[in-house]
Amino acid sequence: MDELMELLKGRRTYRRFEQRKVDQSIVDDIMKAAVMASSAANKQPLSYIIVEGDNKVRQVFEHTRWAAALSPAEGQPKEGERPVLYIAVIQNMNINPNCDTDAGLAISNMTLAAWNHGVGSCILGACNRIKLGEIFGLTDDQKLHSLVAFGYPSVKSRIVGAQQGESLDYYLDENRDYVVPKRKLSDIVTYF
Ligand SMILES: Cc1cc2nc3c(=O)[nH]c(=O)nc-3n(C[C@H](O)[C@H](O)[C@H](O)COP(=O)(O)O)c2cc1C
Repeated sequence: MDELMELLKGRRTYRRFEQRKVDQSIVDDIMKAAVMASSAANKQPLSYIIVEGDNKVRQVFEHTRWAAALSPAEGQPKEGERPVLYIAVIQNMNINPNCDTDAGLAISNMTLAAWNHGVGSCILGACNRIKLGEIFGLTDDQKLHSLVAFGYPSVKSRIVGAQQGESLDYYLDENRDYVVPKRKLSDIVTYF
């Protein structure tokens, strides 16, 4: 159990990466973890597109936006620190058009499976779905739900407790590592 809590603590959002390939066996684990996620009525409306290789990841990067809480100079990964792998989560609308929870659970499993191998990730809701849909050749029945970026982090990230009323914006410390304020349980949990 302690191991799981440590995994959850370390599985933060990472936005700067080493330029080192993620082994196929790890990609396989990430995808096995996605398939193991719960799914409403077990319909499993999601499919996945794996993007690897310099030219393809560069093409996808052009249509992503990073770190809304930071200035582009601070938050946008620069050449030499960009992700080396993306996995696009595709909604198949003909199977189940309401699959946000399915997607969230699958993404959670994927990012945890990756972090279990030291591979960090960033969920990218802010991406140009029209352009990426064209690039991926999606059909009329398919929509890009989210894009998830992966790579070995070249930066650290840690959680700090947020005081009530304090900003929840993440920020960079003096080492350019991420600091992520999380609400305190005493502020958000009550017993009925
Ligand atoms: C649904 C969703 C969409 C997100 N979209 C983006 C995004 O487009 N760009 C980005 O840099 N981070 C994105 N993130 C990452 C969040 O900014 C990050 O989860 C938050 O700052 C908390 O950090 P943590 O993941 O380390 O707890 C997204 C996260 C979620 C859950």
